[in-house]
Amino acid sequence: MSGTGHIKSVTLPEIAGRKGGEPIVCLTAYTTSIAQLVDRHCDVVLVGDSVGMVLHGLPSTLGVTLEMMILHGQAVRRGLERALMVVDLPFGTYEESAAQAFRSAARVMAETGCEAVKLEGGVVMAETIRFLVQRGIPVMAHVGLTPQAVNTLGGYKVQGRGADAERILADAKAVAEAGAFSVVLEKVTASLADRITEAVDIPTIGIGASVNCDGQVLVIEDMLGMFQEFQPKFVKRYAELGRDAEAAIAAFAEDVRRRRFPGPEHVFGDTTQR
Ligand code: KIV
Repeated sequence: MSGTGHIKSVTLPEIAGRKGGEPIVCLTAYTTSIAQLVDRHCDVVLVGDSVGMVLHGLPSTLGVTLEMMILHGQAVRRGLERALMVVDLPFGTYEESAAQAFRSAARVMAETGCEAVKLEGGVVMAETIRFLVQRGIPVMAHVGLTPQAVNTLGGYKVQGRGADAERILADAKAVAEAGAFSVVLEKVTASLADRITEAVDIPTIGIGASVNCDGQVLVIEDMLGMFQEFQPKFVKRYAELGRDAEAAIAAFAEDVRRRRFPGPEHVFGDTTQR
């Protein structure tokens, strides 16, 4: 809090300056209520395109649209007071040209009020990142396992084993050199994540990568244990909300069927006396 009672917002230079310093805490959020919960604890809140799989039941992130990202971005904005907000650019809205990326990113920033956008890709996206940054659009990059390229990568496998490691290292160096303020390293081997963290001068944010990254990000539904079937191995579950929610729903259903659903008398006492 500042002296005026206003909550001090996390700024982009602060995040960029955390290289090698206090680890950066990042979680995804797609709704106002979750944004309110994470705001106090996170430095960065990511409106990830994982929203397509997590909230909309899509089989991959490929079907996510700019409109979906804007709608969820607006919801998250209403719940944040201090954390830095980053919104993903979805598949097909930035890869064609730097101009296309600028149009999409500018729309996302203007309509959601986010501080930065995230896009996937390394060497191949470096010129686009440079174009955006030079025009006032801060970019978080994302290399390693890039879910929008799931078909090219042949699944959601760990990246960076063998010769692949040099390519991913080159990707990370290229996005850093192009002006990205941070880079997500998804599902790369710990040794590669450590090499990248050493090699680039921007913060690395790991997801299933290495404890030595400059920060960590998780999909909030994964770490809260919302899903029983889908449980990525690298995710530590801090709660079992899916199991608890189902138990609560079952208890409610049982109460209704047995006609013991709490009525006004449980809240106000004996209503016949009123
Ligand atoms: O879409 C997303 O949630 C992400 C994180 C997993 C980094 O990109």
